[in-house]
Amino acid sequence: MSAGSACQRIKGTVDLLPEDTRAWRALAQAVTDEMALTGYEEIRTPLLEPTELFVRGVGEETDIVTKEMFTFERADRSMTLRPEGTAGVVRAYLENGMHRRPSPQRLYYMGPMFRYERPQAGRQRQFHQIGAELFGAKGAPADAECILLAWRVLQRAGVPAEALSLQVNSVGSGESRARFVNGLKDLVRPHLDKLDEVHQQRYEKNPLRLLDSKDPYCVELFASAAFEQFLNDSIALNDAWDQCEKTIDLLKAMGVPVSINRRLVRGLDYYTGVVFEVSSNLLGAQSAVCGGGRYDNLVASLGGPDTPATGFGIGVERLMLLQQASIAPPPCVYIVTDQYHADAFQLAATLRAEGIPCQVDLSGRAFGKQLASAEKAGAVLAVIRGEEEARHGGWVVKDLAAKTQSVLETPCTAAVVDMYRQRVETSGS
Ligand code: HAM
Repeated sequence: MSAGSACQRIKGTVDLLPEDTRAWRALAQAVTDEMALTGYEEIRTPLLEPTELFVRGVGEETDIVTKEMFTFERADRSMTLRPEGTAGVVRAYLENGMHRRPSPQRLYYMGPMFRYERPQAGRQRQFHQIGAELFGAKGAPADAECILLAWRVLQRAGVPAEALSLQVNSVGSGESRARFVNGLKDLVRPHLDKLDEVHQQRYEKNPLRLLDSKDPYCVELFASAAFEQFLNDSIALNDAWDQCEKTIDLLKAMGVPVSINRRLVRGLDYYTGVVFEVSSNLLGAQSAVCGGGRYDNLVASLGGPDTPATGFGIGVERLMLLQQASIAPPPCVYIVTDQYHADAFQLAATLRAEGIPCQVDLSGRAFGKQLASAEKAGAVLAVIRGEEEARHGGWVVKDLAAKTQSVLETPCTAAVVDMYRQRVETSGS
């Protein structure tokens, strides 16, 4: 940066301006309300965690851990800005003895995550997630509860169901997952020399991730009849398939449109059973708005007792791209005034105390210009208090929607409150 030039935000981060934060606040409220309906309570964990937590939790060979973490050292301690929420919530669950509380524990969170990825539409380096984690419950009803909750949150946030596709899969757990991975490797092995170096490494270290590769050779291979046959055969060996089918039945019974995608794998290593993703073709290349699934080994692998668990994360920025309605500022009363009028300030304070948003024009400009600002600010009423009005002991009130005007005597507060409430009720704001 040369001397005197303005600092710019870091690539992959965004500023949220007042027109954005309005929608964020409404979303946070909708999420809180929806989570409460199913008994989920908020947990807030630090943005900074020991690096080791993600290495052990998310997986040493995952893209997140190998290349996407913001990691640094302080006082010989390696720490990382959280790339996802689950590992930190599991740490907090154990560190605070929450595993000794009655099961199940239902937790949710909303906040920033950090991944050093190549920024593009729908992909940032600092992004936000709404996440939920359900500890201490196994079986299809727990999986279905979690997926249904993710679905409900998206609906409540104003994302139309028609814009979404919910896909579920299970690659099995334990032994059957290992068998699936071995079968997959057998199938890919004869084609290894045709894969590039990155995919050859994936084959060695994280073969499941080959399944969601966009490499044309992989796509062709996994579209083949031989691979389809392998997928069908693997169902009989999958110890978690029954649970996956029951979960799907429950979701269908709840009217949630869901389909099986046998090629669905997730980018984090901790999943053990049913996994799912909600995507939208309106989002372009970064189509996943939500992902999650069962992770029955993570709590034990981070030092806790055996604890079944499942959860999801929704990308807030992607959700916002899918939201239909934009949110208008709350309707306010706007006070147009030419100079110091103590009673105009008193009126403003009283209206605010009544819970009515009120802005006082501080510009001293001509009243016409102030009235134009009132319209822009989303005011429903403009109260005019100038020299002229004060001299005659009156207040001019303009109803900006109906384009009518009335003159009120002092004290006018009760009348203004009434007019505001009537106007807001009739306009349904
Ligand atoms: P994930 O699939 O890595 O899962 O992320 C969840 C969601 O976060 C994605 O579907 C996407 O919408 C959003 N997201 C991820 N990376 C970015 C990015 N760079 N920019 C914008 N949005 C992004 C998890 O993180 C798991 N912790 C979810 C989970 C919770 N599984 C069980 N419990």
